[in-house]
Amino acid sequence: MDRIRELNEDLRAKNLGGYWQVMEEIYKEPHSTAPWFWSWTDIDGAIARAGEIVNLDASARRVIRLLHPGLSGSTSPTLQLNIQMLKAGEHAVAHRHTLAGIRFVIKGRGARCVVQGETFDLGEGDLLTTPNWTWHEHTNRGEEPLLWLDGLDAPLVRLFLHEIGFFEPFNQNQHAASHKDWQNSWNLIRPAWVKVDSVQPPAFCYKWAETERLLDRIGESPGDPCDGIILDYVNPVTGGPTLPTMACALQLLRPLERTASHRHTSNVIYHVFDGEGVTVVNGVRYNWKTGDSFVVPIWNYHHHENLYDKRALLFVMNDRPLMETLGFYREEKES
Ligand SMILES: [Fe+2]
Ligand SMILES: [Fe+2]
Repeated sequence: MDRIRELNEDLRAKNLGGYWQVMEEIYKEPHSTAPWFWSWTDIDGAIARAGEIVNLDASARRVIRLLHPGLSGSTSPTLQLNIQMLKAGEHAVAHRHTLAGIRFVIKGRGARCVVQGETFDLGEGDLLTTPNWTWHEHTNRGEEPLLWLDGLDAPLVRLFLHEIGFFEPFNQNQHAASHKDWQNSWNLIRPAWVKVDSVQPPAFCYKWAETERLLDRIGESPGDPCDGIILDYVNPVTGGPTLPTMACALQLLRPLERTASHRHTSNVIYHVFDGEGVTVVNGVRYNWKTGDSFVVPIWNYHHHENLYDKRALLFVMNDRPLMETLGFYREEKES
């Protein structure tokens, strides 16, 4: 025993280690961070105060970050959720970075976003992607403050490329909207010289009117046993997930619907777009209503309950594309 202790001390002094020192730390299943919940009352109060105090000179984007207390500066181990406010008439200047992101408008209309030269007008319920290394800038052309979810793969980028990876501000205030719609690489008929990047597909906007139309049409179908009626925001170029590192979805829980419980090796961030209900994670009940957000980290059993006679809508972000690409994805139903 003393000889092993002596060996361990010698190894430590040389920045080395033996397997026998860590055998007790090797678990049979993944351990994860705890689920966490952020109430809209807290978030709304924080962003409203930031709206009074912080201008866009102090911060290129007026953003409140949702920070899990068990992680250093992020919402989940791989994905980050922020709430961003752009007041009437404000312009958030162009920049680009390694972080890929999405915007999902939760309040207001009149957002004009330019991504890689292409202009998108957004209102409530619209989703826009800003893929890795695309120039992006935003203007509020409406009369009221705009609020949108700002979803980013920041923790993942931080892991590989330290902090936010590569970042470049645009050298003028606005980047030229020189892009023509015939240049869109997601068009099904396009000039032969317009090439598609299948790894980082172009920005795309998913309009709420279409989402709503589909929700209305499929409300009677059985849906997924564990997720109810869930709509994937499919990448129009690859036919795969919204972005290489992040999939987005819109989940409908019908009145009084209760889903089956399952667990999987993907981290999921939920934002309650409309309605109220309960999500049960490992036996703990999280009651939620419009504006609340919560995270269900990997390998935690969870199911959803709509206790009311009104539909509930959850906007969902997850890192399943990443887990599947790496061969780490696994899912099981609770028996
Ligand atoms: Fe950005
Ligand atoms: Fe799930």
